[in-house]
Amino acid sequence: TLSSAPASAIPEKFVFPELPTVEGADPARSVIDAFKVATAQIVADAFGEKIEKVYPAVEMGKKNIDFSVAIVRFKRGKPADLEVWAKKVIDNFKPSVFLSAVSTPDNKFLYFTLNKESFTYHLLRQISLTAEASRNEPKNHTLPYGTTLEGAGKHLVIDFSSPNIAKPFHAGHLRSTIIGTVISNLYAANGWDVTRLNYLGDWGTQYGLLSVGFDRFGSEEELVRDPIQHLFQVYVKINAARDEQKKKIDAGETISDEDSIHSQAKRVFKAMEDGEPNAIAQWSRFRDLSIEKLKVTYEKLNVHFDVYWGESQVSPESMERAVKIVQEKNLTCEDRGALLVDLTKFKMDKAIVRKADGTSIYLTRDLGGAYDKYQKYKFDKHIYLVQAAQSLHFNQLFKTLELMGEPYADKLEHISFGLVKGMSTRKGTVVFLEDIIEAATESMHEQMRSNEAKYAQVEDPLGTSEIIGTTAVKIQDMAGKRINDYDFDIKRCTSFEGDFGPFIQYSHVRLCSVQRKNPNIPVPVSVNDIDVSHLLEPKVHDILYHLALYPTAVKNAYTLHEPSQLVTWCFKLSHLVGGAWETVKVAGADEEVAKARLFLYITTREVLASAMRMLSLTPIERM
Ligand code: ARG
Repeated sequence: TLSSAPASAIPEKFVFPELPTVEGADPARSVIDAFKVATAQIVADAFGEKIEKVYPAVEMGKKNIDFSVAIVRFKRGKPADLEVWAKKVIDNFKPSVFLSAVSTPDNKFLYFTLNKESFTYHLLRQISLTAEASRNEPKNHTLPYGTTLEGAGKHLVIDFSSPNIAKPFHAGHLRSTIIGTVISNLYAANGWDVTRLNYLGDWGTQYGLLSVGFDRFGSEEELVRDPIQHLFQVYVKINAARDEQKKKIDAGETISDEDSIHSQAKRVFKAMEDGEPNAIAQWSRFRDLSIEKLKVTYEKLNVHFDVYWGESQVSPESMERAVKIVQEKNLTCEDRGALLVDLTKFKMDKAIVRKADGTSIYLTRDLGGAYDKYQKYKFDKHIYLVQAAQSLHFNQLFKTLELMGEPYADKLEHISFGLVKGMSTRKGTVVFLEDIIEAATESMHEQMRSNEAKYAQVEDPLGTSEIIGTTAVKIQDMAGKRINDYDFDIKRCTSFEGDFGPFIQYSHVRLCSVQRKNPNIPVPVSVNDIDVSHLLEPKVHDILYHLALYPTAVKNAYTLHEPSQLVTWCFKLSHLVGGAWETVKVAGADEEVAKARLFLYITTREVLASAMRMLSLTPIERM
């Protein structure tokens, strides 16, 4: 029978002695930190250094070495001098609950070996306890393991996805949506209060044009059926009609101002800016219907927003305020009636802040918008997750706010990313988000159907295909550093062979299946129910060690704004687990061994699932 010893009862031999508190170490959330502190202490004592200085020098992740410390980071001198320092550490070393050995390959580095049994015990204990504690959390929860409270009390506003109504949701929006969701999760996992804000492109002369277009080409029925598609079609048609007119005018034909589509659009937009109810009513319906439809699509991607804001929502007062300040501070010049901020001194050109007819522009709205959001959220940080092509815009925005003396100017950050190449579907070169999800789902569904026996066991094959398909698209997007361009390839990214999204889902499914396939093994509920000495073989240690690296992967992903750090971690774990199945078996092993291994796989699954949720993926249990 399973022992029901309280989780707090740590066997005598694994009890930690008192450790100093060191900045950056958080053993209560990441137990490996305790082992690192103990290592730092040994080196600090021998070298006569402060532990705070040594702690960050304790490195993990070198092949087959648990911890390494570079002696040369603290001591200079001839090889003979370094040898003396190395020897000092080695001679004073006593095996402990933290470490079992120390050595040096070259007197430049110290290599420390973990007390594997104690490490295994504590790691499994911590992960399983936090998993237990968060079992009743909502479905998107991530384990406290690997998270921090670094951002506690701070507020982040993150502007991401932010597509334009009546225009295609392009690859730039897709990347912003995917990466923005994960960065939001990472901040939340590090204690920040996060406001996810969708800043819709829903204002500007184009929306005057759209309105004119709808009166000519629009269909009420189509609009209700699929607002995003229909408004785009209308937009394409009215643009073509306007271009056609322009050609005629260029060829000498005269078209009255009344008939000019261009002038009509400007008049409608002017009416919108002046808040004329008629002009606003139609636009407002377009906006509402588009948001409704967007929400359905975002749901499929497991993407959520706290606020649907947008260019239209920026208050006219804050825009006027911004324009007034730049003028007062003599930052402006004029060109054919338009007002510009002159940033040539900063190699950022000149940028229009007020058009000749008095209307606002993208930059004006971002200037006013930043002020509005600061009033409302008093954010400690504001991230704009937008493609690199808009770098100049954000440089201009931030510089202008800085010159205006805005107190929040240094809290704004543009996080950018590279291009997606080769994105097109059967339906043409314009890709809608819906089409991408559909294509990925179809590709996954086809593959699943090829194994009829398994297919029959999956409860909701289409739903499952959609989850794996969106996983594939997301992982493809996040596998590399965000600044890199990549080639969009549905066939490739939905493949089960190689480091693509489906492999991560597959690993999770396999980890789930261990428990299912071994119903006769009593499921350990606590690490005290198993004997950790059955988990010391190298393949198991490699898995555990990788689980111990999870907090570092989260931290790097968070501080560098690089989801790829976590993706790489997931792939590595999947490979380690994949390499263990054959030898580290549950089925057929002695019961005690089987129990220990089952616990290992369950715990591994908990962390993988947590990492996947951090990446906004939905871990599935069968495929
Ligand atoms: N709607 C813009 C576009 O599609 C992106 C908006 C980004 N956010 C911002 N605050 N400017 O290009």
